[in-house]
Amino acid sequence: MTTTTPVTSTNAHKDRVELEELEAQLRYHEDLYRAGKPEIPDGAFDELADRYAELADKLGVPAAERLDARPGADHTEGFEQVEHRVPMLSLEKLTPNRRDTHGEPVSILEQLAQWVERRRAELELTDDVELPLMVEPKIDGISVSLLYRDGALVRAVTRGDGRRGDDITTQVRRARCVPDKLAFRSGEMEVRGELYWPNAAFDRHNARLEAAGEERIANPRNGCAGMMKRKEIDGLEEVGITSFLYSVPWVKGLELPPTQTDTLRWLQELGAPVYLAEVGHTEGADATLAFCEGYATRRETLDFDIDGMVIKIDELKHYSILGATGHHPHWGVAYKFPPERKTTRLLDVELSVGKTGKITPVAHLAPVELARTTVTRASLHNFVELARKDVRVGDLVEVEKAGDIIPQVVGVRLEARPDGTHPFPRPEVCPACGAAVLAEEIFIYCPNPGCSAQRQQRLEHFASRRALDVEGLGSSLVAQVVDKLGVEKPHHLFTRLDAQKLAGLERMGKKSSENVMRALEAAKSAGLSRVLYGLAIRHVGETMAEDLARHFGSDEALLAFAERYVAGDETAVATVAPESGTGAIEGLARKTADSIFAELDSPAIREVLDGLRSVGVSLTAKVAVRKEVEGVAGKTFVLTGTLPTLKRDEAAARIKGAGGKVSGSVSKKTDYVVAGDDAGSKLAKATELGVAVLDEAGLLALLGD
Ligand code: IVH
Repeated sequence: MTTTTPVTSTNAHKDRVELEELEAQLRYHEDLYRAGKPEIPDGAFDELADRYAELADKLGVPAAERLDARPGADHTEGFEQVEHRVPMLSLEKLTPNRRDTHGEPVSILEQLAQWVERRRAELELTDDVELPLMVEPKIDGISVSLLYRDGALVRAVTRGDGRRGDDITTQVRRARCVPDKLAFRSGEMEVRGELYWPNAAFDRHNARLEAAGEERIANPRNGCAGMMKRKEIDGLEEVGITSFLYSVPWVKGLELPPTQTDTLRWLQELGAPVYLAEVGHTEGADATLAFCEGYATRRETLDFDIDGMVIKIDELKHYSILGATGHHPHWGVAYKFPPERKTTRLLDVELSVGKTGKITPVAHLAPVELARTTVTRASLHNFVELARKDVRVGDLVEVEKAGDIIPQVVGVRLEARPDGTHPFPRPEVCPACGAAVLAEEIFIYCPNPGCSAQRQQRLEHFASRRALDVEGLGSSLVAQVVDKLGVEKPHHLFTRLDAQKLAGLERMGKKSSENVMRALEAAKSAGLSRVLYGLAIRHVGETMAEDLARHFGSDEALLAFAERYVAGDETAVATVAPESGTGAIEGLARKTADSIFAELDSPAIREVLDGLRSVGVSLTAKVAVRKEVEGVAGKTFVLTGTLPTLKRDEAAARIKGAGGKVSGSVSKKTDYVVAGDDAGSKLAKATELGVAVLDEAGLLALLGD
C-alpha cells in the first residue's frame, strides 16, 4: 500500500480498525436516517463521514472500496420529493483533532483565525476595515425550508440530500411548529430554520408514552425527525415541536435586509420565531471563540439542545462574493462543544458475535446520563484495544459519546481500581456455540457456520435494506422464523415461509405477513450484487459485491472462477490479484482475494446459491455493462477532494464503466488526478510528479458527457 504520509504499522492498524468501525456506524445510521428514524443529528453524521474520509485518504483506500458516506439520497418512501431552489448545504466545522500537512496539530483558535483571515483576503479587506461576525447557537434539530407566499405558508421541505428534500407540509402544519402566516401581504419568501423539540415538551411526551406502556423516544432530535416523517398525523399538534428560523435565502417582490442580524429582526417583526436575545456580535478569532466557549454554561439553562455555535459573517453582501463549495458556504463555520465525558462502573463485558463470526467486546455499564440519554452499553472496540487500555470488570471507566452518538469507553481510572480485578481474558471459544475461535489480525472469529448467533445476524443482514431489502423481516421476526419455522439459511426464507405460518407468530397479523411475503417475492429480482453482499462474506462489502457482479456477470461464472482460483490456477490468480499492479477488480489484494474466493467456493455458500437459484432468485448482474470510452479505457485515475456534483463512488463507477481504472494513490503510473474541493496531498503529489489534473467538468468531458 502506498500512502503519501509515512504511517507506522501499528498506527495503520489502529486506523484500519477505526475505519471499519466507522463504516459499520455509517451504514447503521444511514439506514435509520432513510427509515425516518435517525438517532443522531445530521451534523454528527457528517462528522463520522468526515472522519471516515480522512482515514480512508490516510490509508489510501481506493475510491472503489469506499463507503459512499453521505446521507446522500435521503428520502422516506411515500414522501414527495421537492427540488430546493437554493441547495441546502451544511457548514464547515472547526474540528478538535485537525492536523496540518506536516502532521502538526492545529488548535480550534488557529483554525478559526485562518478561517477569518481567508475570508478577509477573499473580500480584499484592508487592515483598518472590520469584518463583523455574528454568533448564534447551533440548535440540534432538523433543518427545514419553508415557502411563504403572500404571507401564507405553502410548503415545508426537509433538507434531504441538500438538492432535494421530502415534502413535510402536512406534518409541519398539523404540528403547528412554524407560523401558518407571516406578516407580509404580497411577494414570496423562502425561510430556513430548525425544527426542534423543547426538552420539557419532549419529557412530557415520553412520560405519556411510558404511562401507556410504550417505548420511550431516545432523544428530542430523533423524536422530532421521526414525528415529521409520520404518515399518521393525528395528535401531532399536541407534542409541542417548535422552531427557530434563521435565514431567508430567496425572496420575490420583497427586499432583503443588509445583515444577518437585521434578517433575524425582520423575521421577528413578521412574526417568526427567532433566537435573537443572546446572539453574539464579535470581531476576530479570539473574541469569537471566547464567546462560543462561554456559551457552554448558558447551554445548560436552555430548554433545548444545542450542539455548538454557528459563526456567520454579518454583512449579507459578502455572501455572494465568498461563494460556496458543493457542500459548504464560505460565509459561515460551525463550532462544536467538546463531547461530554462521564465516569461510571464497568459491570460486565459481553461478547457479541457478528454476521461474519467476528467476536467483539461490549461494555455493560452502571447507567449514566450522557448527552441526555441513559447509557448502559458502550463499545470496547476489540480485544487488542481492551488489553491496551487494560479495562477490567469492576473498574471505573470514562465514557464519551463520539460525536454525541455512540458511547465508547475511552479510558480507565487506574487510581480507583478496586481490589481483586483481573485482566479481561481473550475468549477462546465462541460465547454462542462454544466453537474454538480463530484469530485473524487483531480480530477473533467464531469459525462455525452453524453458530446460532451468526445465523441470526446473517439472516438479518440478508434481509436488510442494502441487501435483499425484505421490509418487515427485522431481528425479532428473524429470531421467530429461526426458532419456530425452521429457517436456517437464506434460501429457507423462500421455501419455509408462507403468509399463514407467519401470521401465527408473535406480533404478526395477516396484513404484515402478506407484506413480508410480497417483499420476499420482490427480493427475487434484486440481482447478483445484492445477493453477494447479503451473503455476509468476509471482505465483500457493497462495492466489492458490485465489482464482482460486474466482472463475472453471473453466479455460474463467479463460482467456476472461484473453483479455479482455489485450485491454484495461475491465470485465475493473476487475473484478479497479480503480483504487481492492479488486477481486473480494483483494490482486490491477494490476501483478500484468497479469503473471498475460498469462501465463495465453500460448500456452505454453494448450497445457499443453489437454493436461491432453485427458488427463482435472480443471480445475474444488474450492473451497467462496460462501454469503453477512448481516452479513458486503460488509463488510471485518482480521485481526491469533493467533486461539485458527482459522489466519489459515482465518479469511480463512471470511470470504470468506461474502461478506466481507479487507484487510491498517486504515482508515476497515474494518468489523471481528478481533484475537487479540499483536495489535499494527492493533488500536491500530482503536481510534483507532473500528472495531469482534471476537475469534474474535465472528467465529464473526457467521459464524453
Ligand atoms: S445556518 C449551510 N444557523 O446546523 C447551512 N444553521 O451544518 C447553514 N443549524 O444543518 C445554516 N442552528 O440545520 C445555521 N443558527 C443556525 C443553526 C443552524 C442549527 C443547523 C443547520 C445545518 C447545520 C449546519
